[in-house]
Amino acid sequence: MTGCEEPDRTVFSPKGEAGEGSLDVIMLSIYIMTFVVAVVLAIFIYVLIRYRQKPGDNSIPKQVEGSMKLEMLWTVIPIILLAILAVPTLTHTFSLAEEAPKDEDPLRVKVTAHQYWWEFEYPDLGIKTAQQLHIPTDEKVYLELTSDDVIHAFWVPELAGKQDLNPGSTNKMWIDADEPGTYEGRCAELCGAGHALMNFQVVAQEKEDFDKWVEKRKNPSSEPKTAEQKAGKEVFTQNCMSCHAIDGTQMKTKGEKAPNLTGFAERNKIAGLLENNDENLEKWMKHPEQVKPGTYMPSFDFLSDEDMDNLKAYLQSLE
Ligand code: CUA
Repeated sequence: MTGCEEPDRTVFSPKGEAGEGSLDVIMLSIYIMTFVVAVVLAIFIYVLIRYRQKPGDNSIPKQVEGSMKLEMLWTVIPIILLAILAVPTLTHTFSLAEEAPKDEDPLRVKVTAHQYWWEFEYPDLGIKTAQQLHIPTDEKVYLELTSDDVIHAFWVPELAGKQDLNPGSTNKMWIDADEPGTYEGRCAELCGAGHALMNFQVVAQEKEDFDKWVEKRKNPSSEPKTAEQKAGKEVFTQNCMSCHAIDGTQMKTKGEKAPNLTGFAERNKIAGLLENNDENLEKWMKHPEQVKPGTYMPSFDFLSDEDMDNLKAYLQSLE
C-alpha cells in the first residue's frame, strides 16, 4: 500500500496526456533547481578558495557596502527563472481545467469526496458507483470535483492530480489513460483520521469493455439466486440499507451516506483498500475501525456467523 511496495506507481511513469504534462513541468523545475544549485555551489567553492586567509597576511580586505550591480543581478536572474517555470506551469494547469466540449458528447464524471470514500457519478449515463472510477482509454474524461464534508484532494500519480475537492464549490479537471489498467489513487489532502487510507482505483478499459461495464451497471444483477443469497439480502435490508444503496433493488438511500454497492463483487478492493475476498469482507464488516480509523461504517460484529456468511454471499453476488 505504500510507495515502496509499488515503485512504478509514480508521477515519473505517466500513462496519459495529463500525467505527461505534469511530468514535463516537474522535470523543468528539477532542471532549473539543479542549475541554480550548481551555479551557487560553484561560486561558493570559488570564493572559499580564492579569498581564503593566506599565511602571514592579516590585512583587512576592502570593505564593500551595497552594490547596485549585484543587487540587480540576483533579483533579475530569479525573476527570469521563475518566469520560465511559470509559463508552462500555468498553461498546463489551465489546460487541465478546460471545459468539456459541448459538441463532442464528452464523458463527464462527478467526483464527490467523503470522509473517507469516493463517490463517482456519471450524470449522462445515469450511473453511480464508489471507490472505483471506470474510464475508457484514449479519451479525455472530464471530472467535476466537490466534497461532501472537508477538503480532500484527488490524486492518481500515473494519470493526474492533485486537485482539491472543496465543499460548496466544484473544481474541474480532465484525465486520460492511454493504456488499460488499474491505477491507484490517493487522497492528497489531510482530511482526518482515515486520510492515509482514503484510497481509490481508476480502472481504465478499452472503449468496448468500458461500454460493456456501463451496460452492466445500468442493468445490474442484484437479485439473489441461492437461498443463502436471499437470506443475505434480508440481513442487508435490516442492517445496511439505511446507508448503502444497491441499484436495481428497492434499496435506495436518500442522502449519500455510504458507498453505493451496485456491482460490489466486481470491485477488486474493499473500502478501496483490502483485496476483495470473503475473509477481508468479514474483517471489514466486523471491525471497520481497525481497517480504516475514523470511518463512519459501524461495526457489525453482533451478526451471527450464519447471518454474516449469508450477507457475504449476497454481497459477492452483486454484479
Ligand atoms: Cu480525504 Cu485526505
